[in-house]
Amino acid sequence: MPSAKPKSTKSTKAKPAKSAPKPVRVAILGTGGMANRHAELYAQIPGVQLVAGCDVDRARVEAFCAKQGIPSAGAYTDFAKLLRECPCDAISNVTPDAFHAALSIQALKAGKHVLCEKPLGLNHAETKRMVAAAHKAGTIAMVNFSYRDWSGLQAIATRVQAGEIGELRHVEASYLQTWLTAPIWGDWRTSPGWLWRLSSKHGSKGVLGDVGVHIVDFATFPAGPIKKVFCQLKTFSKAPKNRIGDYLLDANDSAVLNVEFANGALGTIHTTRWATGHPNRLALKLHGTKGAFSFDSDTGTDTYRACIGADTATAKWQDVKARPTPNNHHRFITAIRTGLAGQPDFARGSEIQRVLDACFESDATGRPVKI
Ligand SMILES: NC(=O)c1ccc[n+]([C@@H]2O[C@H](COP(=O)([O-])OP(=O)(O)OC[C@H]3O[C@@H](n4cnc5c(N)ncnc54)[C@H](O)[C@@H]3O)[C@@H](O)[C@H]2O)c1
Repeated sequence: MPSAKPKSTKSTKAKPAKSAPKPVRVAILGTGGMANRHAELYAQIPGVQLVAGCDVDRARVEAFCAKQGIPSAGAYTDFAKLLRECPCDAISNVTPDAFHAALSIQALKAGKHVLCEKPLGLNHAETKRMVAAAHKAGTIAMVNFSYRDWSGLQAIATRVQAGEIGELRHVEASYLQTWLTAPIWGDWRTSPGWLWRLSSKHGSKGVLGDVGVHIVDFATFPAGPIKKVFCQLKTFSKAPKNRIGDYLLDANDSAVLNVEFANGALGTIHTTRWATGHPNRLALKLHGTKGAFSFDSDTGTDTYRACIGADTATAKWQDVKARPTPNNHHRFITAIRTGLAGQPDFARGSEIQRVLDACFESDATGRPVKI
């Protein structure tokens, strides 16, 4: 006779303990405003340790390390010294734009993984050197287009790329900020953190380089690459002789792009720091032959609207809640742990920089530029 079946198929053996995630030691380079956000995001990932900070301003890096629980020996003012002495796996490069290329390349040459703030560099030539350095190093090299963190955008990109709205015909994208008209983030007139963003000499490419880079990534992530752009940039007078101390306020404040995508769709992408009433708003509309998606960060970053299927006949929009998706810092750490490249990577950062270069050329010549 066959033996009786056990009542439960559950094993009585104790389950092996889940192994702890591989530790990743991170140093933050440039410990100003945005560095705190990097620290906050790393703190949410098990196994990530902040081991050092580095800034040219000693008081700032010491205050940052104290705040983030990094031992005082981890506070550096010399990045080369940090690379020589500090046992770390990865660098978050959160310095101002002008330092992204040189310092990221230095870190890559030292064999580190790099998450670099946007814009990846000041121009396409610079970012191509960064891509080459990343290839040579063979480490993970990503750019922090932080609005990829929003699950609403991730869901829209997946659905557009799956062909759910048919062939793309028309795109509207905007990134609106108001910090020149409202002291929502402090008074820009007295804050070096805002003043360098207004000055070419301090490495700024204006609103286009600062947040235009985000909205170009935001629009082209679902819509695909841009093949032609006509761009107009404008710098408004903001102070007597448009200067405050050492800062000549010559970088652009507003940018309007008319674009044609490689898939034939037309679109407008615009951005400004003069958008009274909107502290930080990203909006995107994608209209295809079979439907449309709409996103507005003022109404939610994990939701979006869809007009699709039978609803297209009556122009009815439905609210959709997106499934949670990992943020860039998560993707960066996962890429380090698995050895599989994560997005957005340096090549993507460089591709966006190429569009920005074309925008500057178009503004200077008054003509559309092919990419
Ligand atoms: N992804 C986003 O959403 C987002 C948001 C804000 C800022 N950023 C980017 O982050 C970067 C930093 O912006 P921020 O607002 O923190 O600026 P910030 O001016 O507040 O901080 C920059 C820090 O870098 C330090 N620094 C300058 N040169 C350095 C060098 N050679 N070595 C080490 N430290 C150096 C400065 O002393 C300062 O403490 C910029 O590139 C900006 O575009 C991105």
